[in-house]
Amino acid sequence: MTATICGTGSYIPSYTMDNHDIARLVETSDEWIRERTGVARRHIIREETTVSMAAEAARRALKDADVLPEEVDLILVSTISSNVIIPCAACEVQKELGAVNATCFDLSAACTGFVLAYNTALAYLAGGVYRTALVIGSESLSNLTNWKDRGTCILFGDGAGAAVLRACGGQKEAGGSGAGPYLPVTHSDGSKGAALTCKSRHDFNGLAEEGRQSSPEDMTDESHYMQMDGQAVFKFAVKRVPEVIGEVLSLNRVSTDEISYYILHQANKRIVEAVAKRLAEPMEKFPMNLQEYGNTSSASIPILLDEMNREGRFAAGQKLVLAGFGAGLTWGASIVEWNR
Ligand code: UT7
Repeated sequence: MTATICGTGSYIPSYTMDNHDIARLVETSDEWIRERTGVARRHIIREETTVSMAAEAARRALKDADVLPEEVDLILVSTISSNVIIPCAACEVQKELGAVNATCFDLSAACTGFVLAYNTALAYLAGGVYRTALVIGSESLSNLTNWKDRGTCILFGDGAGAAVLRACGGQKEAGGSGAGPYLPVTHSDGSKGAALTCKSRHDFNGLAEEGRQSSPEDMTDESHYMQMDGQAVFKFAVKRVPEVIGEVLSLNRVSTDEISYYILHQANKRIVEAVAKRLAEPMEKFPMNLQEYGNTSSASIPILLDEMNREGRFAAGQKLVLAGFGAGLTWGASIVEWNR
């Protein structure tokens, strides 16, 4: 048994903040941000939430796949910015869609989250546990961003992307193999977690020790926003991402010539360029949309997949590499064969 992506969808908030808007909040400039990151603007939630964006992206993916909500067996939402702790975002999405037969849970692995959620769904489908899965990455990072910190607020944005995966026949059939035969490669290094952190908004243990209730003032503590050692994360990404792509290709005996596109987590244009250089692959194989959306963490890969799908840039039989990296630290890559 294997599985294939049979539909994609995304939702992007309409409200935007360009680099000039950011330069009114912190000491920076449009020129610096474009040159050092490639980002020109980012879309920011207004009425939307992580759940509402996830549900809309999912609706669009189901429509694209021509799959009914009742046919979905598994809903997996990758997010670090859920509206509430419980119920999980996936259950909320289930309610919105009326996907009454689905088993639902969330997965938290920051910017590697979509790759890990995809791998998880694939394992269930390839193992014959479920037949149809909705895999979603949705983030409201603007809620976790310290808008006074120019080291982070220039980078992040909000949005959601989704893919429908369906189990299909055996191994490497004529006309396409689906995704099943390709094994992913993933890694984690918890010892380097301090490079990118965000304390829970609900982490009031210290207050309990002090014997007092939480108050809005406690939320002004900067550790409740994302904190990043940008250079450390940058160095980690440009080393580990080409490495893990090399590992996934060699594990599956696939050569770089067979790969049509590398769909990387959209963190920084210079990271994408460095990965292309280390792999000695042309930039045309590395699509980017971070100039428009910034870094949307686990939403970035499915948003890019959906854009490319809707632009008709994929053809049946093409092989893609999905690669994510980020907080944890975590990183990983998967090979996807497009078979629509
Ligand atoms: O999703 C995965 C997680 N995140 C990432 O992948 C992010 C990885 N890291 C990065 O993308 C980059 O490290 C940043 C974009 C965050 C920072 O770029 P950088 O080239 O590493 O800058 P830097 O921190 O080395 O700073 C260089 C200079 C410093 O000034 P001095 O000391 O050379 O005078 C900074 O103070 O640029 C200054 N600087 C800024 N200047 C204008 C730092 N941030 C800004 C800013 N505007 N926003």
